[in-house]
Amino acid sequence: ASSIEVDVSSLTPGMSLTVKWRGKPVFIRNRTPEEVKAAQEVALDQLKDPVARNANLPSDAQATDADRSAGKDKENWLVMVGVCTHLGCVPLGHQGDFGGWFCPCHGSHYDTAGRIRKGPAPQNMAVPVFSFISDTTIRIG
Ligand code: FES
Repeated sequence: ASSIEVDVSSLTPGMSLTVKWRGKPVFIRNRTPEEVKAAQEVALDQLKDPVARNANLPSDAQATDADRSAGKDKENWLVMVGVCTHLGCVPLGHQGDFGGWFCPCHGSHYDTAGRIRKGPAPQNMAVPVFSFISDTTIRIG
């Protein structure tokens, strides 16, 4: 099947896990209130890539924290394809200058909304099609 279901009940705030979907890693992170706030406070004109890159939204949606996250009442959740948009390495979580992810291959720094903030990567990490099918289960794809 092309979709998977992931039980996220064990992820307390600050925790993340990686699952495989269509041969790629997908990062699921339950962000802390501080991580959400840090991402919300970034003005769009500070972003290298101002586009949400969220497959659940129109292609011209802006890269606000709300439109990068799982949205209303679920803004603490971030679900992203864990592939650096530079040359495809897998970034490391909870690292880098912005507390999000750091790609060790050539030094791309992503923030706590998975948006590229520094380094050679051109785009924010992609948000795949997903939805919560219960309070603790995410379907990806
Ligand atoms: Fe990530 Fe080059 S592949 S910085």
